[in-house]
Amino acid sequence: MAKGNWIPVRGAQGQHSRQAHADMPEGTYEREISKEGFFGPAAFFHHRRPPTGWTNFEGPLRPRAFDLAALNETSSSPWSAPKVLSNAAVEIRFWKLAGPMPALARNADGDQLLFIHQGRGDLFCDYGRIAFEPGDYLYLPRGTMWRLAPSDPAAILMVQATNAHFTLPDRGLLGPHAVFDPAILDTPVMDEVFAAHQAEAGEFKVQVKKRGEVSTVTFAYNPLDAVGWHGDLAPARLNVRSIRPVASHRYHLPPSVHTTFASDRFVVCTFAPRPFETDPGALKVPFFHNNDDFDEVLFYHAGDFFSRDNIDAGTLTFHPSGFTHGPHPKALKNMLVQPRAATDEYAVMIDTRDPLDVGEGAAAVENPAYVDSWKTL
Ligand SMILES: [Fe+2]
Repeated sequence: MAKGNWIPVRGAQGQHSRQAHADMPEGTYEREISKEGFFGPAAFFHHRRPPTGWTNFEGPLRPRAFDLAALNETSSSPWSAPKVLSNAAVEIRFWKLAGPMPALARNADGDQLLFIHQGRGDLFCDYGRIAFEPGDYLYLPRGTMWRLAPSDPAAILMVQATNAHFTLPDRGLLGPHAVFDPAILDTPVMDEVFAAHQAEAGEFKVQVKKRGEVSTVTFAYNPLDAVGWHGDLAPARLNVRSIRPVASHRYHLPPSVHTTFASDRFVVCTFAPRPFETDPGALKVPFFHNNDDFDEVLFYHAGDFFSRDNIDAGTLTFHPSGFTHGPHPKALKNMLVQPRAATDEYAVMIDTRDPLDVGEGAAAVENPAYVDSWKTL
């Protein structure tokens, strides 16, 4: 949040609504320009045409899409997974893991979040064992030693909070048990399977990532050999099915209401199925907006992606700040009247306060035609 007071203006000109995202002048398209995501002062314009009606878009700034599902190379170490997007506060990789990791991993650069797009199996770590399946977020506190043993090949979106923590967002007026109850978070258990894993003989390597570089520490025994633990810090598992999204029948809520995890300079949000608004004047699709203070990343996990054409599961879109984005033409037709009762999509959004750089992994699977996907035929 900016220091000091916002510059105190309040105005209105011409034809306008008095309520954001509702009761727009007939035949107009609303665009929001705002500060600090959707939390600061904002203005709402009513345009005659969709604000994404460009005929050409040249230069380094542009909406981008990457088909991460097409990154076919598997890697037994998370630290070899291709980098997709990064800045000083966050690092996003996409990791395909075909079988059990031969070595343990430890991230000394920050807290780690693994989002399981595909695959299932077990996570072994200092704290015990926990199973994973598609749709799971696995939170791993910085410094945890861990190893995945998938029974089905896994595809994982990795998000690192560089030199920082993952926390839960303040639920404010909703109260702390909304969206998901903290009691729904699962933590690893020290069971017989974990004991058998501990008892495996041989040499064990731990690949420690620090400042982006990997060092390998070798033990003559399995270092996941704790017989117990206590405390209030542990890995946690949350499946997207456990998320009960906030919705309003009369108001299209901003995407920030779907924040699942927060860090210092970015947030991770989850879009889960929710009913469309039913109020006749309320917007039923995402509003056009600039989001000038944040770069926006969206990873499509599963379902029917209602606001986007030509997007499949495993696609990641990247909308750097600096231009207006919003619904594609197909979705826009249903701006005020939706044929369906509810959305049917699971997607992970990462909004970063600082600009992101595209990594070599993403560049290899870019869809250069994405910038043209808002054009009407
Ligand atoms: Fe956005």
